[in-house]
Amino acid sequence: MRAWQVWFVHFLVLNGAVHCVTSLEEEFSDSIFGNFLEPLRDLLDHKDDGNATVAKFSLRKPSHPDDDLCYITPGDPGSLAACTFNSTSKTFLVIHGWTLSGMFESWMPTLVSALYERERTANVIVVDWLSSAQNHYVVAAQNTKAVGQEIAHFIDWIEETTNMPLDNIHLIGYSLGAHVAGFAGSHASNKIGRITGLDPAGPDFEGEHAHRRLSPDDAHFVDVLHTFTRGSLGLSIGIQQPVGHVDIYPNGGSFQPGCNLRGALERIANFGIFAITDAVKCEHERSVHLFIDSLLNERQASTAYRCASSDAFDRGVCLSCRRGGCNAVGYGVSRVRRARGVQMYTKTRASMPFRVYHYQLKIHFSSKINVSEMEPSLTVSLFGTKGEADNLELKLKERLVTNKTHSFLLVTEKDIGDLLMLKFKWEETNSWSASSLLKMVSSWWSGDSDAANMEVHKIRIRAGETQQKMVFCVKHPDSNDLTQEVTFVKCKDAWRMNPKRKRVTLKQR
Ligand SMILES: *[C@@H]1O[C@H](CO)[C@@H](O)[C@H](O)[C@H]1NC(C)=O
Ligand SMILES: *[C@@H]1O[C@H](CO)[C@@H](O)[C@H](O)[C@H]1NC(C)=O
Ligand SMILES: *[C@@H]1O[C@H](CO)[C@@H](O)[C@H](O)[C@H]1NC(C)=O
Ligand SMILES: *[C@@H]1O[C@H](CO)[C@@H](O)[C@H](O)[C@H]1NC(C)=O
Repeated sequence: MRAWQVWFVHFLVLNGAVHCVTSLEEEFSDSIFGNFLEPLRDLLDHKDDGNATVAKFSLRKPSHPDDDLCYITPGDPGSLAACTFNSTSKTFLVIHGWTLSGMFESWMPTLVSALYERERTANVIVVDWLSSAQNHYVVAAQNTKAVGQEIAHFIDWIEETTNMPLDNIHLIGYSLGAHVAGFAGSHASNKIGRITGLDPAGPDFEGEHAHRRLSPDDAHFVDVLHTFTRGSLGLSIGIQQPVGHVDIYPNGGSFQPGCNLRGALERIANFGIFAITDAVKCEHERSVHLFIDSLLNERQASTAYRCASSDAFDRGVCLSCRRGGCNAVGYGVSRVRRARGVQMYTKTRASMPFRVYHYQLKIHFSSKINVSEMEPSLTVSLFGTKGEADNLELKLKERLVTNKTHSFLLVTEKDIGDLLMLKFKWEETNSWSASSLLKMVSSWWSGDSDAANMEVHKIRIRAGETQQKMVFCVKHPDSNDLTQEVTFVKCKDAWRMNPKRKRVTLKQR
């Protein structure tokens, strides 16, 4: 780009940033990459002349994960020996994304170390395409194909020179780097083992033909983590559509815990453009940290579950591992051989180790009359052999309906072991007046059974991580104490014989 173009682009970026402070969070990615970039496409449509795309291959050392001490030069077998390339071990090529700074991001040495931690004899090669990535986004995106082709040549050359089986090659690409990896895989003469896409970039790739983005055709196994897929009209920073054999959407692929994008938007309002990178980075980059976590905490791998949608997952209906229904997140993911890709979901903590424990609660609310106005807040405390998790909110995705089984997803941050007991709490929220609330408090869990009573007989639970299924019954079904918190214990066989006596009643009026 010429100087005036650079200036113009920066001008647009700055202006776009200022405008988006006022826009809604959901429109955030839109306003950055959507509307105001459109005119840029025409401006920059002619390709850069000259050979800007030069990829360098730095074989990093476990002792110096941060330093580029030895470059492997395609065509120079001596460089393999000089860098002590081990042609019988696994070879990782780590491919960075778009950059404003022109430097590697801070996660790079962490990822390199984590790879060596897990695979001690591996070759961890950092692909440096910073010079082509440090461009306006649209230009950098255009460069991904050429960089991918260079990497493909590198891979072909390694294969010829060392007879290394290509199943040993694992490309790990972040953001735009994921598509670079895709082009590398599709242009290599033989199929490589695996590509991991870490939140592959969305703009300019969403909805494109499989040949023009990362796709399952690019390697024997392509696994993808999507962490920042928020947006509308198909425009978001991370690609929304599935692009691999296994596509995992942690926390639905958006709103990563601990990132606080809303807070970040406020910072942008206060501190301007430079806060944007922080805001976006946290969620986009979460994919990298989830992968690092999976390398370092092998025994605490997160589990992801196949599900038709994020909403269905949030209702807890997808915690089954039957027929490939679940898989490990990150490095330890098992290869799935299916014609069609699999979309999976998981919840995470806000920091490493990210793993949580998933539970599905199925609760049947029954009553003689139709209850329509209830919007209670429901909380549950779980007690297990290893600990407890208190006051977990059961999120009602819809209004409570009489005589219907509602399903909820619950997660605990720590392992509480096998479930022994749970406490269930029901509180009315704003939609009811204070006086009716008072009445309810005094009569809520009484054992009366007039027509207006809501009843809960038992709570069925499925634990995702252990795949255990349990049924819990009210502990003191006959007691008339008026507490709002009711204790459920594992049902004894007896409950089947006398179900009437073992129910708890929620008196409505
Ligand atoms: C780009 O590289 C090719 C081959 O490496 C070379 O033939 C060509 O002259 C280069 N073009 C420019 C503009 O440097
Ligand atoms: C190369 O890798 C293989 C297998 O990963 C390992 O057994 C061997 O010790 C390595 N060689 C060197 C020189 O590190
Ligand atoms: C709910 O089911 C019970 C038992 O089947 C029945 O007696 C009751 O009338 C039903 N309530 C409504 C509102 O249909
Ligand atoms: C409850 O509502 C459903 C549908 O709204 C209706 O079919 C049913 O007859 C009602 N039952 C009672 C007991 O009012």
